Amino acid sequence: AAFSTSSAAAAIKNVTVVGGGLMGAGIVQVAAQSGYKVTMVDVSPDSLDKGRKIISSSLARVAKKKHADDQAAQKAFVDKVFDNIATSTDAAAAAASADLVIEAIVENLATKQKLFAALDTAAPAHTIFASNTSSLPIGDIASATKRGDRFGGLHFFNPVPQMKLVEIIRTKDTSDSTFAALTDFTKALSKSPVSCKDTPGFIVNRLLVPYMLEAVRLVERGEATKEDVDLAMKLGAGYPMGPFELMDYVGLDTVKFITDGWYEGGVGLKGEKLVEPSETINELVKNKALGRKSGKGFYDYS
Ligand code: CAA
Ligand code: NAD
Repeated sequence: AAFSTSSAAAAIKNVTVVGGGLMGAGIVQVAAQSGYKVTMVDVSPDSLDKGRKIISSSLARVAKKKHADDQAAQKAFVDKVFDNIATSTDAAAAAASADLVIEAIVENLATKQKLFAALDTAAPAHTIFASNTSSLPIGDIASATKRGDRFGGLHFFNPVPQMKLVEIIRTKDTSDSTFAALTDFTKALSKSPVSCKDTPGFIVNRLLVPYMLEAVRLVERGEATKEDVDLAMKLGAGYPMGPFELMDYVGLDTVKFITDGWYEGGVGLKGEKLVEPSETINELVKNKALGRKSGKGFYDYS
């Protein structure tokens, strides 16, 4: 795709990120590190605190790399990034002064639509809206607003501060200037953009999810152990993590949510064998073994 520059991007100064969880906090961090004024929004002071903690511990790693033996410089770096971050529990008020709103809340269509309908009334006309959804159609989310031309997908990867890719999703309504603004914003974060149509899983998850599910089926068939599958994909295919390590990292509830949604009705993937839900994963999720975040998934982290 051709990535042109735009004047709309130059106009992006204030960014609001709604959802300060794993992904939202990461997006807040990289935007603030790149000099944007960012407001992080979540449902309660407690959730905002969690978001701030995610940012602090990640920034500490970045600061250590940047200023190895200079603790004063590390502190100055961290303080400077936090100077660019405000927090709020009022999404509408935050959107009222935003040039770009990025949504990274729970992966539920109705919840996202409700949020965006409210933001659409509160935000100025020029404000661009973007969703970080992993698996829901951007067009369905945008349909809750009257600004389909100023709406796109901005899909980051976990861990956001480390992963260099952002997928930019155009719906049939996304305008050229919106697409250009999202592209320029991505580059300003020192990330590499790729573009994709509004299809299930876009590029990365469309390939990664069937791959992870086939790894589970391979082990279920008794052909190899999960440990050997992980080692094989790391040493034989150059992946930084094997598929079982990666599922634990992403969260098994997230993997389940994506496959269930696609298999049950995801545009073009309904009943598709490639994304058939896995009984092994269902059982783990039922037992609250969600991966790293719960201390246990395919592997034990306690
Ligand atoms: N914040 C800042 N820096 C971080 C970080 C964080 N949260 N996590 C890791 N890093 C940095 C480390 O500081 C380190 O930096 P240097 O190499 O410059 O020293 C580097 O990342 C490597 O970290 P570690 O040495 O601790 O560990 P590692 O080598 O095992 O790397 C990893 C960790 C980057 C997560 C790597 O294993 C990896 O890339 N794994 C695959 C991740 C992946 O595929 N993510 C996509 C998931 S799918 C998704 O996100 C889409 C979706 O919709 C579900
Ligand atoms: P998370 O559960 O860590 O964080 C979600 C946050 O949103 C929570 O802090 C929650 O309190 C907050 N929230 C929920 N409803 C809200 C509302 N109405 N208003 C404001 N805040 C609200 O989830 P996550 O892993 O950060 O995922 C967020 C989004 O990013 C999802 O759409 C997910 O599919 C997508 N995503 C996840 C990954 C991943 O690997 N986890 C990768 C890429 C994209």
